[in-house]
Amino acid sequence: MSDSINPAEVDAVVLVGGQGTRLRPLTLSAPKPMLPTAGLPFLTHLLSRIAAAGIQHVVLGTSYKAEVFEAEFGDGSKLGLQIDYVFEDEPRGTGGGIANVASKLRYDTALVFNGDVLSGADLGALLNSHHDRDADVTLHLVRVGDPRAFGCVPTDSNGVVTAFLEKTQDPPTDQINAGCYVFKREVIDRIPKDRAVSVEREVFPALLADGLKVCGYVDATYWRDMGTPDDFVRGSADLVRGIAPSPALKGHRGEELVHDGAAIGPGALLIGGTVVGRGAEIGPGARLDGAVIFDGAHIEAGAVVERSIIGFGARIGPRALIRDGVIGDGADIGARCELLRGARVWPGVRIPDGGIRYSTDV
Ligand code: GTP
Repeated sequence: MSDSINPAEVDAVVLVGGQGTRLRPLTLSAPKPMLPTAGLPFLTHLLSRIAAAGIQHVVLGTSYKAEVFEAEFGDGSKLGLQIDYVFEDEPRGTGGGIANVASKLRYDTALVFNGDVLSGADLGALLNSHHDRDADVTLHLVRVGDPRAFGCVPTDSNGVVTAFLEKTQDPPTDQINAGCYVFKREVIDRIPKDRAVSVEREVFPALLADGLKVCGYVDATYWRDMGTPDDFVRGSADLVRGIAPSPALKGHRGEELVHDGAAIGPGALLIGGTVVGRGAEIGPGARLDGAVIFDGAHIEAGAVVERSIIGFGARIGPRALIRDGVIGDGADIGARCELLRGARVWPGVRIPDGGIRYSTDV
């Protein structure tokens, strides 16, 4: 066996078919991997990492709103990639999604990604670790500060996975499944094709039970699953501030990222990794802290937006306060409204001036 694996002879598979329910209402109009993140579709950051690692062929496993991916990425040549698309009529889950792309795979090794994870893992080192151990499957396992929110994956002293454990208050290890896996091509053929299957809950435990060699590649890199509004906001801010790596941002680093055609009024304060989309307007004296403002949104004078996502073309009225909220596309939030702690406003909804308040001042 040669010393290292040639990434040009590895297929990347990216699962992008989920409905992204936890990010509704934003995912009613766009699938999660296409939501703008630091000004680019989230998937662009991931595809740029794949290209930077020397991988050339990518298969996107689509289902929900499948057509928008090909419209954006085409044959992949703009990113230096060759992209194929495989569509599932019926979503087959994360395992079924992998099985379903099998006919498009070209090589003996496939590197599979959840399409919503922001990560700094060294993909070349992950592939080499798989190759050196002659593993059937290698999972990227990341060490996290608080593993209680995740299922964890212990390994033995040789790096072989010993179990897949559900969430517990007392996890035996801080290693969690990072949503990125290397598969030997023939192992993919073991996944049932005719029904929905979860790779985490069903495929991996079955491979262990069948005695296959399932290994872990462990690191403590930057890692975030962008699936919830809170994580989406933090991940976006980390990209803007250069804390999360992305070859697509070409080294941008700063407190804010303002895109072409956006207008920022006098005295407006943009901090905490705020991103302002194309054609958005920020009024005088507005305060944006860790805010994600999609294209064409308007934030009026004196409004405050903290750790929140403001959808395409939405309007936040004068002196309104949005904290830890999600405002759907085209929604209109009246002056002085206060929307706090996980509030979600559906697209196009109009809330009149002063219509929702947490305080009694007029
Ligand atoms: P939630 O509904 O908020 O849980 O989001 P989700 O639908 O994206 O599910 P989850 O975060 O568990 O999915 C992880 C990754 O797998 C995401 O990139 C999804 O797009 C993808 N995915 C989830 N289910 C399917 C599926 O049935 N088919 C395919 N091809 N991809 C899927």
